Amino acid sequence: MTDKQAKELRLQFCKYGQEHVFKFWEILSSEEQLQLLQQAKSLNLDYLSQIIENVLHKNFQPDRYASIITPAKFIKFPNSEVDWQKCKETIAIGEQTIKAGKVAAFTVAGGEGTRLGCVVPKGILQATPLKKKSLFQIFAEKIKAAERKYETPIHWIIMTSERAHNETIEFFGKNDSFEVENIHFVKQGQMPAITNDGKFIMETRSKIAMHPDGHGGALKALGRSGLLAMLENLGIEIISYFQIDNPFARSIDPYFIGSHVKNQSQVSSRMVRKLYPEEKVGVFCERKGRSCVVEYSDLPKEQAMLRDAAGNLVFCAGNTGIHLLDVQFIKQFNGKDIHSEIPYHIAQKIVPTINSLGEPIIPQVTNGLKLEMFIFDILPFAEKTIVLESDRLSNFSPIKNMDGLDSLKTCLQDQLKLFTSWLLVAGTDIPTDANGLPPFDIEISPMFADNKYDFLTKWKQLASKPAIMANQYIE
Ligand code: UD1
Repeated sequence: MTDKQAKELRLQFCKYGQEHVFKFWEILSSEEQLQLLQQAKSLNLDYLSQIIENVLHKNFQPDRYASIITPAKFIKFPNSEVDWQKCKETIAIGEQTIKAGKVAAFTVAGGEGTRLGCVVPKGILQATPLKKKSLFQIFAEKIKAAERKYETPIHWIIMTSERAHNETIEFFGKNDSFEVENIHFVKQGQMPAITNDGKFIMETRSKIAMHPDGHGGALKALGRSGLLAMLENLGIEIISYFQIDNPFARSIDPYFIGSHVKNQSQVSSRMVRKLYPEEKVGVFCERKGRSCVVEYSDLPKEQAMLRDAAGNLVFCAGNTGIHLLDVQFIKQFNGKDIHSEIPYHIAQKIVPTINSLGEPIIPQVTNGLKLEMFIFDILPFAEKTIVLESDRLSNFSPIKNMDGLDSLKTCLQDQLKLFTSWLLVAGTDIPTDANGLPPFDIEISPMFADNKYDFLTKWKQLASKPAIMANQYIE
């Protein structure tokens, strides 16, 4: 960059009220100057100033606190064999759709993993009881198994963040991509952290503090990277979206896909019934005749606590973060300008920064705002949506915290419970405690089955059945 270009860039920052970014310019080394200029050049100031103006001054934010919400209507979980029989046609539609190569898988694997205290990308976390498979490996195996079952290649898009990108790619490289052929990595976007009055926060004297733009950034990332166009060219109509932190997510599920197709849905979502009012899951609701998710932090307490005559929670439809997205529908959120995007949420955060002398500091209280998009904010734009109830144990046990609820420990226990429940239905003699847990570790590979029905079919076909004992791995 020439001196003239650098000067012009600095003038631009002045024009947008961000001149403080260059406060230490004169004392920066030439390397630091270059670093700052490169970062400054990569920011679209016009776009950012519109976003900041909207969120701070025009309150152009998702309609978060609206009190006029009603609980979402949902398709109930088929609880009995008779109910499942009725779903046969739906499952067949799903299977045909998968076999026709119309479904791609999409994993959001960015995010900061703050609650988990993760120093590596979350997907690298070892998350199975015996084989200590990484979350990435679990999903790779689910996808491979679906490819075999439906005799079709399945494209798998993995969204990473700036921080997690290189390490994720290296990890897949080291593991031969777990033998999945069609993997595409895409980096999500970043947003500058801002003060309450919209100024960019400096992380160092030569660096603006940045953070991932939220999982809703997936929509822009798909457009920007050309992957959306690729999917369209491949004739893929549905994106099966799930979060890396939930190894129970069924990446390719014919019943869910069949329900989506049958209902001509543009966005379909899986829900589980909330276990208790304070459970940290968003809730599917309806507002002004459209579907939406109200985040747990935004759901007023009275509504979270509300129970019907039978004592069940009224706002019960917990968001699992598992959706099916219609490719044609999401094309409109291409991120070309502010009008073709979903809105940003703001969150108060502690952002490491510098003091007036340019020395690094970690504030004790929140000093900044993070701007993030959430994928479920596309819901109100869709005319056709469905919410499908799922049984929790087969679909949802996320790893969010280091310990306690929704931790690796609870997730491992849930896997043991699930595997045990399948083995019991298959007629094996496996001892369990009052919580359904066996006295030893076992593991069933997704390559063998990732759901009860496939498990039972495969189990029946086994000429010699493996002994049910400690450390038994069924693959
Ligand atoms: C999220 C949902 C919540 C839902 C719950 C289910 C939001 C705001 N809320 O809560 O409604 O009930 O999951 O588990 O999403 N991610 C990225 N990039 C980002 C941010 C996140 O890829 O910039 C990924 C994370 O890696 C993670 C997933 O998105 O896999 C969920 O993000 P997280 O911030 O953990 O959401 P929760 O607060 O747990």
